[in-house]
Amino acid sequence: MEIKQIFLKFFEERGHKIIPSAPIIPENDPTCLFNVAGMQPLVPYFKGQPHPEGKRLVDVQKCFRTNDLDEVGDSTHHTFFEMLGNWSLGDYFKTESITWSFDLLTKHFNIPVEKLAVTVFKGNNLVPADNEAAQIWEGLGISKDRIAFLDEENNWWPNMESLGPCGPDTEIFYWRSEKEIPKVFNPDDENWVEIWNNVFMQYYHKQDGTFEVLDNKNIDTGLGVERTTAILEGFTDNYKSSIWKDVISKIEEISGLSYNNLEYTRSMRIIADHIRAIVMIAGDNAGVKPSNTDQGYVLRRLIRRTIRYAKKLNIDINSDWEQELAKLIIEKFKGYYKELELNKQVILDVLKNEKNKFNKTLEKGLREFEKLVQNINGSIINKDDSFKLYDTYGFPIELTEELANERGLKVDIKGFEEKFIEHQEKSRAGANQKFKGGLASIGEMEIKYHTATHLLNAALKNVLGSHVHQKGSNITAERMRFDFSHDTKMTDEEKQKVEELVNEYIKMAIPVEKFEMKKQEAIEMGAEAMFIEKYGDIVNVYKIGDVSLELCGGPHVSNTKELGIFKIKKEEASSAGVRRIKAILM
Ligand code: ALA
Repeated sequence: MEIKQIFLKFFEERGHKIIPSAPIIPENDPTCLFNVAGMQPLVPYFKGQPHPEGKRLVDVQKCFRTNDLDEVGDSTHHTFFEMLGNWSLGDYFKTESITWSFDLLTKHFNIPVEKLAVTVFKGNNLVPADNEAAQIWEGLGISKDRIAFLDEENNWWPNMESLGPCGPDTEIFYWRSEKEIPKVFNPDDENWVEIWNNVFMQYYHKQDGTFEVLDNKNIDTGLGVERTTAILEGFTDNYKSSIWKDVISKIEEISGLSYNNLEYTRSMRIIADHIRAIVMIAGDNAGVKPSNTDQGYVLRRLIRRTIRYAKKLNIDINSDWEQELAKLIIEKFKGYYKELELNKQVILDVLKNEKNKFNKTLEKGLREFEKLVQNINGSIINKDDSFKLYDTYGFPIELTEELANERGLKVDIKGFEEKFIEHQEKSRAGANQKFKGGLASIGEMEIKYHTATHLLNAALKNVLGSHVHQKGSNITAERMRFDFSHDTKMTDEEKQKVEELVNEYIKMAIPVEKFEMKKQEAIEMGAEAMFIEKYGDIVNVYKIGDVSLELCGGPHVSNTKELGIFKIKKEEASSAGVRRIKAILM
């Protein structure tokens, strides 16, 4: 059995409900591009909101981190990864959490106790040491020598600065080496690798700097699937484990080259890692498409980087190599992530279209790069050259930087950024009203949908009551999703009323006005705001006649009549106390 199945079953047998992975794009947090940990979608429940599935949960969560992107290519780093986790929402605490981790590792994964060591929090001037966790470990047979007390840099989640639910953690390490296992655990010895983190979320870090003990103490754990699989299968190279083996074989087959030839190893790992990440991002229900901002930019960067490395392996870029690899990944993962099967064609099209786009300019861009390297004065690629590579040849700045680094050169990133902004301003001015709010990357349809969220919010309040507040939204050029606080399923009559009301607002042809004011003033005027604490002192407020007043960054249409016809497609539960409406404009 795969470790994912063993893990889920183990906790299911201990009263946990298996919940599906949340989307890789966070649903209710516009400040965060990707889910980076299993616990992230569960934050509202750590704060006390009841979870519909109960107090014990287990899942495998799709995660993506860009901070390791440059390190991908070595034997252990990945952009996309899967995190297994078990959670207690105000239910069991340290004893069960530690004991179960120990039992799963030693009895089900059959790891000998001698190969394990742990770290616990040593305390600081704000919070005492976690002696309790250490005692539980000792009781299970982990010797004192194998328990290291470390500071908040190592044993606090997420970190001492973050506000909200937090706490000390205990990390479990595995001796990953043929060498004799040292009696005393030295966490700095790289042969000890972390496999599982158990966070004891017992505090709430308040605005005033104090750490209040939570009434409901939570457990949050995280175990990385890729690393643990490699360990259990006896590999120090993750890409040799069963997770990657067939993907690497496929790349070998397509390229006719060998992974074991060190000249190709890195490129193959990058292609394998990136293709999987691309499949997961493009296959997420959020509907991300390659673009020049946010998640879309990351997706674009990943695809373009993959193509560059495929070229290094002399793969015929025009063949269907990327389709074959994507299909293999979809097959492998669709059992856990059903959306991959549903969005299969979308994923394949995204890859093909972006490839075709980049293909046209890649070759020329690389020649341009060679030319400028020949003629370079000094060792820095200037802003004009890097911007030309971006603007004319579609080279993400990170690609230029990577190419430069390979030649021992640097790029004037700051200059590039200035030039980038300058260019945006220009195209904004020239885009004859097309991008009204000014975000060059946001299309006309997205802007319309954005305004529609304000109208829908207002209509919902009108029909259902003033308890309705926006909890999140997600917009593509094709549709909108809107999450709002409301406890019960909407009746057909309510839905119809809301739909009619929005259409009425549209027909009334109300001008959309933007004001800048002090945050306090906006609050006093009764402006709606989803994340009030995230705004600075001076805020933008959008006013739509008497219908709506909301703090918002925009952009919006200038008159509601531009929206066309509004139609609700679906109303469903999103999470406890939160409903979701899917709607379109026609
Ligand atoms: N949230 C913890 C982590 O990601 C478990 O390590």
